[in-house]
Amino acid sequence: MSVGIFDSGLGGLTVLKEIRKIFPNEEIFYFGDTARVPYGEKTKDLIVRYSKEITDFLLTKNISALVVACNTATALAIEELKADYDIPVIGVIEAGVRGALSVTKTNEIGVIGTKATINSEKYKQEIQSKNKDIIVYQKACPLFVPVVEEGLLEGEIIESIIRHYLGDFDDKVDTLILGCTHYPLLKKEIHKLYPNLNLIDPAMETALDLKRILTDSDEAENKTGHTKYYVSDGVQNFRNIGSMFLEEEIEDIELIKL
Ligand code: DGL
Repeated sequence: MSVGIFDSGLGGLTVLKEIRKIFPNEEIFYFGDTARVPYGEKTKDLIVRYSKEITDFLLTKNISALVVACNTATALAIEELKADYDIPVIGVIEAGVRGALSVTKTNEIGVIGTKATINSEKYKQEIQSKNKDIIVYQKACPLFVPVVEEGLLEGEIIESIIRHYLGDFDDKVDTLILGCTHYPLLKKEIHKLYPNLNLIDPAMETALDLKRILTDSDEAENKTGHTKYYVSDGVQNFRNIGSMFLEEEIEDIELIKL
């Protein structure tokens, strides 16, 4: 028994990192759909189809739970995945919302993500299903993904992009959900500019969700703690940029054509 994790590409490695902190011995299969990234501007039909193709592939690895480590795929495909597959499927949105609700004092929460995630309104619906009095401000921040992938995690360029997107959030909300896998890499810089905002990274809460789901027998001893990576394109690029996300070298990557 092992865990499957997928993302549109590299970003889900921020979720993998948190999962590995809690499950250092778990065998993990990570799929990054690097041939078809970004999902953030694609339609629901495509994202559902891609998510199912990846899940079918990961099931051949005998996974006992699936983590959708992509906000866009969680927003647009998690219901279909939960309905169509027998194993537990965990996304990042419920987790992020739980984290935000536990810290907001003003009941005003900001959500940032890709265009597809924000247009789906899934974060807003999930927040207001838990507490209808919460005011939610949402904003798509499409420039963050390419800038992070370029490694521009600090300095003038990223500062002005952060101000461009978040300038009007600061006095409206006390809590900001980083609703895209790439954004946690900007946490330090966002905090520097907006120190009063509580920044919520759904990755940590997602790892805790997985802990609740995996039974003791799933967490059996004698596991290798090995992570095997599959990508649909660009092994070398995944190795290079992925190590920035994971903060360690990435070994054992295989190219898979779905
Ligand atoms: N992984 C995506 C997310 O969390 C960001 C990258 C993309 O657009 O595919 O929404």
